[in-house]
Amino acid sequence: MDRYRTLCVLNDLCILMSDLKNQINLTKLPKHVAIIMDGNGRWAKAHGKARVFGHQNGVKSVREVTEAAAELGVSYLTLYAFSTENWDRPKLEVNALMHLLIDTVRNELSTLNNNDIKLMAIGDLSKLPSKTHRALLEGIENTKNNKRMTLILALNYSSRWELAEAFRVMSKEIEQGKLSSDSICENIIENYLATSNIPDPELMIRTSGELRISNFLLWQLAYSELYFTDIFWPDFRKENFYEALLDYQNRERRFGKTSEQLSRT
Ligand code: IPE
Ligand code: IPE
Ligand code: MG
Repeated sequence: MDRYRTLCVLNDLCILMSDLKNQINLTKLPKHVAIIMDGNGRWAKAHGKARVFGHQNGVKSVREVTEAAAELGVSYLTLYAFSTENWDRPKLEVNALMHLLIDTVRNELSTLNNNDIKLMAIGDLSKLPSKTHRALLEGIENTKNNKRMTLILALNYSSRWELAEAFRVMSKEIEQGKLSSDSICENIIENYLATSNIPDPELMIRTSGELRISNFLLWQLAYSELYFTDIFWPDFRKENFYEALLDYQNRERRFGKTSEQLSRT
């Protein structure tokens, strides 16, 4: 392809992307988007490379989506980065992921600060290797005053772990007389979750064509809109995020009511 044709194709792509972005209704944005970033291994395999290559290339997608979400005005973005089940992967892959986390948090720190993004993490962080844990805590500390968006990494996270942990702490407080069993209701339970004070995600995206939740935010996703795409995570770009938001905005969220009831309000 000659240089002129390449420029034309790039120009068309830019127009297409800004078209998608312009179609998004900013008054109907989800406050919280959660993403299961899946397909790194298959992406690497398709490129004839080791799985780790897929994880490394997934970092660019993290940067793109974080930037896109912050630019639009999404308040919370949760990314599932490592599940409690992922420890069962080959040791080499787990080690590579833990090192990649250290590098990513350190390298992206200035971008997070320049974009006024606060870093948070949910999951059993104390079980992470100490260097990874430390890098993460440094990232959280160094961005704690940022206001535009909160980026939440789900790390050594699983929803059943989170719920069991919440029940354990609640039972202890009941034993100690700090909590009355009669007071337990949905709002009280939410206070004991890792996501307390964070609104439930209105939209959950999973890449790579898998149609499952994989132990992610089971309580919080109770009424989320689910969006599945075949795109592998390392190929996921801003325009794919815009497409997911547009799809979400075209849905009718009924929360148990009828369509007619909603059109009356
Ligand atoms: C998601 O990609 C990243 C993590 C789970 C850490 P995968 O590594 O699961 O990629 P696939 O699903 O094997 O292709
Ligand atoms: C879910 O992906 C966990 C993360 C994206 C971190 P997996 O690839 O581990 O999920 P399953 O095991 O295929 O369901
Ligand atoms: Mg996977």
